[in-house]
Amino acid sequence: MEESVERQVGLDFLGELRRTHNCGGLRASDDGKRVVLMGWVHRRRDLGGVLFIHLRDRYGVTQVVFRAEDQVHEKAGDLRSEFVVAVEGPVELRSEDTINPNIPTGEVEVVAEKLWILNESRTPPFPMEEHVDVSEDARLKYRYVDLRRPHMQRNIILRSQISFAAREYLYSRDFLEIETPFLCRSTPEGARDYLVPSRVSPGNFYALPQSPQIYKQLLMVSGYEKYFQIVRCFRDEDLRADRQPEFTQIDLEMSFPQQEQIFEVIEPLVKRICKVAGYDIATPFVRMTYAEAMRSYGIDKPDTRIPRFYPVEDLFPADAGLTPAGLPLVAIRIPNTGGLTRRERDELKAAGQERGLRVYDDMKRLERDFAEPMVKVRERAGAGENDLLLLAAWAGEPKGQRPEETVYQACGQLRLLAAQKYNDRHHLLDTPKDGEGFRLLWVTDFPMFEWDEEESRWNAAHHPFTSVHDEDVEKLTADPARCRAKSYDLVLNGTELGSGSIRIHRRDVQSKVFAALGLTDDEARAKFGFLLDALEYGAPPHGGIALGLDRLVMILAGESSIRDVIPFPKTAKATDLMSEAPSSVPARALRELGIQITRKS
Ligand code: AMO
Repeated sequence: MEESVERQVGLDFLGELRRTHNCGGLRASDDGKRVVLMGWVHRRRDLGGVLFIHLRDRYGVTQVVFRAEDQVHEKAGDLRSEFVVAVEGPVELRSEDTINPNIPTGEVEVVAEKLWILNESRTPPFPMEEHVDVSEDARLKYRYVDLRRPHMQRNIILRSQISFAAREYLYSRDFLEIETPFLCRSTPEGARDYLVPSRVSPGNFYALPQSPQIYKQLLMVSGYEKYFQIVRCFRDEDLRADRQPEFTQIDLEMSFPQQEQIFEVIEPLVKRICKVAGYDIATPFVRMTYAEAMRSYGIDKPDTRIPRFYPVEDLFPADAGLTPAGLPLVAIRIPNTGGLTRRERDELKAAGQERGLRVYDDMKRLERDFAEPMVKVRERAGAGENDLLLLAAWAGEPKGQRPEETVYQACGQLRLLAAQKYNDRHHLLDTPKDGEGFRLLWVTDFPMFEWDEEESRWNAAHHPFTSVHDEDVEKLTADPARCRAKSYDLVLNGTELGSGSIRIHRRDVQSKVFAALGLTDDEARAKFGFLLDALEYGAPPHGGIALGLDRLVMILAGESSIRDVIPFPKTAKATDLMSEAPSSVPARALRELGIQITRKS
């Protein structure tokens, strides 16, 4: 049970009082001015005769002094952490030896002659420090207190500044900000939809949008050729540090664009956003096809701060027996790890095995058996004395529709794991300290389809409205595994920041793609009838992209979880610990919606 708040002190009314300055603005040049400040008691220091408080608001902290001879001194004795107060008095210069160089207002203090206690506060659940040593659950339960901490304020303010910069830039490039509905029809990937029951049409549901994808395409059909929106999206999926059930996209769409023109809009946008966070990044960004990314990093979102790996099977004699015929042998290098212990090497080998790989870690032995090829391997991989070098190959039968990709993927995971394990030795993955530390790149030409092992069918790799490469249209049914899409991802330090594509604007091509996905015309109609109809009414060529705002702010704020840049995030179980959502609802509400609960977890 919550204990009741016992009134300890008499509270004052705000009345007509207005603040004249904020707590971050006073400087030596304000000496002698009479000011009114309002804020929270951040810290309190009682030196017997004199009482000091640090008064805090969104703008900063100012020292306020209550002198023993002043009448308010006694009243100030009641002040405690996080009380809300107003003070009035003159600004005075601090003496040389009491100047605080750590805060911008550190040269002055306000001598309080009047004090209003506007509200009291229970003892906060944790201190208002930069970094607090409390569980995240406690921070989320008392989020309104957590958000007061300077660290969190910086993150949330940065987020606001970034949204503003994005808006300002997109308006300057002639984009229109247009809203799309939140109450939508459930989409094909319906499994991840949040459903909203309809009261007036019991038994029917809206879905919250996973993204405004279809609506923004319809806006192109309607002629609003440069659209954007900073928009909330909802996905009921497994959560991780960089995923939330509701998150925000900077979403845009253009008519008649070449892929390159979309990049030309996004690169300056990201540059400007980075500038807001104080980082200068270089444009244009690196471009890499999906096939190159797989061959070099084994992942479609490469973190290029770690060196790439190299296929090296061509350097060995055909009968070397190191890798199954037709599959790659991969040299993985992690710089500056120094020699590994036997145990560390065994751990890496085991990690490789778990992923289906056979890992060759004994370089001495390989160099004895394959002296010449190994010189070339070292050369190709650029491996120095102090680096870790591993060779990895597939251990069993080839697997998957693109078997070489399966091998590269496993090697990519091993590469990342090894780099993360020894980051304390090479520091490649430390939080970026300057623009150089932000490795932005475009990954292009994704495959059109991904094989769904469980369902034994092809799924759209991006979404089913993505255009196929002109020269691959014919392969749609003949060789779906090798069809490339006109799609692209923006990747930052191994995180997928954004994703987009040139869309299908022709009804006939859309039908072919649906057919390749195993959808009959009727099924397609049932799922996206209105989009298909719209394609028949003069749909222009169009394309776009959406950037994950939360992820972008997370990286720029130097955080490792997007929860730290979202004011009121959900836990990994998609709950809100503060409001205790989701919650049950009264039986009456369910009856009205025509809903019966058959199972409760
Ligand atoms: P996609 O699904 O790739 O594309 O999403 C675009 C970007 O949104 C971010 N993102 C997320 N951020 C936080 N939590 C999540 N659960 C989450 N899911 C995605 C990522 C991702 O790159 N309609 C298409 C875009 C388009 O084609 O224009 C779409 O939504 O940073």
